[in-house]
Amino acid sequence: MKQIFISISIVLTIVLFESFKSPSSKINANSVELINNEIDGKQLFTQNNCVACHNITVKTVGPSIAEIAKVYAGKKNELIKFLNGEKEAIVDPAQFAIMKPQLNITKKMNDAERIALAKYMLAKK
Ligand code: HEC
Repeated sequence: MKQIFISISIVLTIVLFESFKSPSSKINANSVELINNEIDGKQLFTQNNCVACHNITVKTVGPSIAEIAKVYAGKKNELIKFLNGEKEAIVDPAQFAIMKPQLNITKKMNDAERIALAKYMLAKK
């Protein structure tokens, strides 16, 4: 009888352990999004000096974040591509020469950081 109890508790411990372990050990498409939630897009935007040319609501050297959010509404992936130098400018293409060198900064970032930046900008519409 005692042995049965011991066996059952061992099995239960293993089952419990596995069920706790499995969600985080799965590497899937959501992983980047999960990591991304921990990265502060606003902090990246400030630290990398994007604020020097982009105000939240007013056009300064570059378009405002609100303007960028309007043009890129529903196009988060396009915005991420732009930050990775994979897509042409659509907000103010005539001024792109000023923005172009800045892409050297965002291209060096990792995917999660670019996603965080895009989310931050799109939240300001
Ligand atoms: C020296 C000024 C300057 C700095 C610094 C700067 N930008 Fe820009 N940015 C511009 C100008 C000017 C435009 C308008 C040209 C254009 O649309 O690409 C622009 C446009 C953009 C756009 C719109 C892209 C499009 O499709 O037209 C995004 C997004 C953007 N900037 C993000 C950033 C981020 C992120 C940073 C910081 C890493 C940054 N900018 C730093 C001047 C700047």
